[in-house]
Amino acid sequence: MTLLSIENISVRYGKLTALRRASITVNEGETLFVTGPNGAGKSTLLKAIAGVVTPREGFIRFNGAHIAGKAPEDIARMGFSMVPEGREVFGGLTIEENLRLGTGMRADKDQAARDLEQVYAVFPMLKDRKDAQAGVLSGGQQQMLVIGRALMASPKLIAIDEPSLGLAPKVTDDVYATLLKLRDSRGLTLLIVEQSATRAGLTGGRMVLMRAGQVALEGDARQLVKGDALRQAYFGYGDH
Ligand SMILES: Nc1ncnc2c1ncn2[C@@H]1O[C@H](COP(=O)(O)OP(=O)(O)O)[C@@H](O)[C@H]1O
Ligand SMILES: [Mg+2]
Repeated sequence: MTLLSIENISVRYGKLTALRRASITVNEGETLFVTGPNGAGKSTLLKAIAGVVTPREGFIRFNGAHIAGKAPEDIARMGFSMVPEGREVFGGLTIEENLRLGTGMRADKDQAARDLEQVYAVFPMLKDRKDAQAGVLSGGQQQMLVIGRALMASPKLIAIDEPSLGLAPKVTDDVYATLLKLRDSRGLTLLIVEQSATRAGLTGGRMVLMRAGQVALEGDARQLVKGDALRQAYFGYGDH
């Protein structure tokens, strides 16, 4: 079943066109990787879904509802959680305070407490250190914290912008193992942006390659990283 459907959306920043009638669908329970060179429009795509930027044309449907133009908090409440690029951890707040920020507009305190316990069950390391300042965590631990925070709203889909950025490969392995476990145990859908296709090839799933604000190539991640088409599309060979 299609959970998220992006149809021909365009986004501009002033005169610069960051997305040019881009179309992508994400199926329930799958892992979709969005890869592509710097400036391709990957982060803008996530921001458009999250409601942080508004497309000038096109449709975005999430879980049956039209969401383009809606406010970020409304979209979050419908089950879309985004982990932005650069892991925004509030270093001066404790780990638990950081997690509680992910509860958002949810009024029900009991539900928030249950969500917190669930996140601690996934990340015991965060529970052990819940009163420590988040600023003392390593990069990998901070990535786990922001994923935990995104889980606090009990999303259907988590979109993560470049989770491996700045992390050692071994730490990235741990982050991905956790994401896949969450996907399988909770029926979460994953939309993961990574500049390089390497991780998509290792993890498997479906992959979309973006270039110049459009989808240049789409297919099975493991198959695509083996072939030449990916490299050609990534660097734009054969276009001119
Ligand atoms: N806030 C902004 N203002 C102006 N231009 C932007 C802004 N954010 C991104 N861009 C531009 O939009 C294009 C797409 O950027 P982005 O979506 O961040 O790409 P990616 O995540 O694939 O590197 C780039 O040319 C970038 O410079
Ligand atoms: Mg980006």
